[in-house]
Amino acid sequence: MAKGKKTIYFCQNCGHEETKWLGQCPACKEWNTFVEEKVIGSSASANVRTEREVKIVALSEVSADDHTRIETGMAELDRVLGGGIVPGSLVLVGGDPGIGKSTILLQVCQRLAQERSVLYISGEESLSQIKLRANRMGEFKENLKLLCETNLGTIRNVIENRRPELVVIDSIQTMYSEEVSSAPGSVSQVRESTNVFMQLAKGLGITIFIVGHVTKEGTVAGPRVLEHMVDTVLYFEGDRHASYRILRGVKNRFGSTNEIGVFEMRQNGLVEVENPSEYMLSGKPENASGSVVACSMEGTRPLLIEIQALVCESNFGMPRRTAAGTDYNRVNLLMAVLEKRIGLHMSNCDAYVNIAGGIKMNEPAIDLGIVMAIISSYKNRPVDEKMIVFGEVGLSGEVRAVSMPEQRVTEAKKLGFEVCVIPEVSMDMVKSIKGIKIIGVKTVNDAMNLI
Ligand SMILES: Nc1ncnc2c1ncn2[C@@H]1O[C@H](COP(=O)(O)OP(=O)(O)OP(=O)(O)O)[C@@H](O)[C@H]1O
Ligand SMILES: [Mg+2]
Repeated sequence: MAKGKKTIYFCQNCGHEETKWLGQCPACKEWNTFVEEKVIGSSASANVRTEREVKIVALSEVSADDHTRIETGMAELDRVLGGGIVPGSLVLVGGDPGIGKSTILLQVCQRLAQERSVLYISGEESLSQIKLRANRMGEFKENLKLLCETNLGTIRNVIENRRPELVVIDSIQTMYSEEVSSAPGSVSQVRESTNVFMQLAKGLGITIFIVGHVTKEGTVAGPRVLEHMVDTVLYFEGDRHASYRILRGVKNRFGSTNEIGVFEMRQNGLVEVENPSEYMLSGKPENASGSVVACSMEGTRPLLIEIQALVCESNFGMPRRTAAGTDYNRVNLLMAVLEKRIGLHMSNCDAYVNIAGGIKMNEPAIDLGIVMAIISSYKNRPVDEKMIVFGEVGLSGEVRAVSMPEQRVTEAKKLGFEVCVIPEVSMDMVKSIKGIKIIGVKTVNDAMNLI
């Protein structure tokens, strides 16, 4: 029995549902975000089957092997996906406008179309615009088919008929279903479209990549449930003014998250950066105070970054503090630790902390780097150029252990660094590594004595 049409008010910010209009969303507390949308209730009992009609199997009888993963040929992307594309999965790629979402997916299509059938569906660009981008990338095989379409029903028919192995939807916010009366990009349209693509992916075993626009806060536009519905969520980030881009996995049902892939945007598309540490450290000033190299783990891979600090006397009563690329509150906390535990008087100093290269880092292991950069700038004494540091700093000024010290030290050695400053407690774990001087520190005071 069909329930018929009903009207629901959706918060366009978080997807919260109400039966009547409200000025403020009770869930996310945003004002004036409710929009009326008509939804059609699904018929209640048409698809219900009895137990005899469905198949129940024991988990031990289900066969699945990991060899079915499809490698894209872009090692950085494969790493973020957890070793390649899982057939039948739904992958959401989000990112700022112009960051390169369409570019990377067209490149994936280019590689996979070598031997598989691929369908690229664009709701944003015309065929000739896609061709313009493709011209920069080089050769494309016949197997790559394009379709400019936004009607969900049509797209579903095409996919069911053609059964391509890979489908790219660019973007989910442009797709609309005629069964939902609200405008494309609204909460119920996005949810309905994603649902259809999920059924297609799982039912036919097709991998579907979906491009998602982001809101000004940096999350994918549309309801939060969108991220729950898909198997994998990848975010593209990077500095508008720098050419490198970072692809970060935030959810992955078939692999670890926290892995990052580093790419460089070039004329001919996105090129993988094989040694990101080297890339991040290029252009590091020589013998400058306030510059320290720290090591952060991104998933299973260590990344060396340069932390810069500038501490100078404040002209006003209120000292200014800014942090670019790292948590502002963390910097304030670390400065308070320095003030209290080693008596650096910074209450009348402005302090600016920056992670060079525009990358964002929030791992606690860079605390020691921030602390040393601040001390170095305050005392105007440069730290040893061939030194890297890592360690978490606690409120009593102690330097605490962080994960995977061996990998970090090995990476530093590989890039030609000569000294590593690490938490004292981790010394045992790295004593087998030869050819690099390792110094253990217990407190921030010990670290200060090294500058
Ligand atoms: N000729 C070129 N040389 C170098 N880089 C280019 C060139 N043309 C475009 N780009 C880069 O490609 C980016 C656009 O990439 P792309 O269209 O894939 O972004 P997008 O994330 O899909 O954006 P949107 O959200 O608008 O769809 C530009 O911002 C620019 O950095
Ligand atoms: Mg695009």
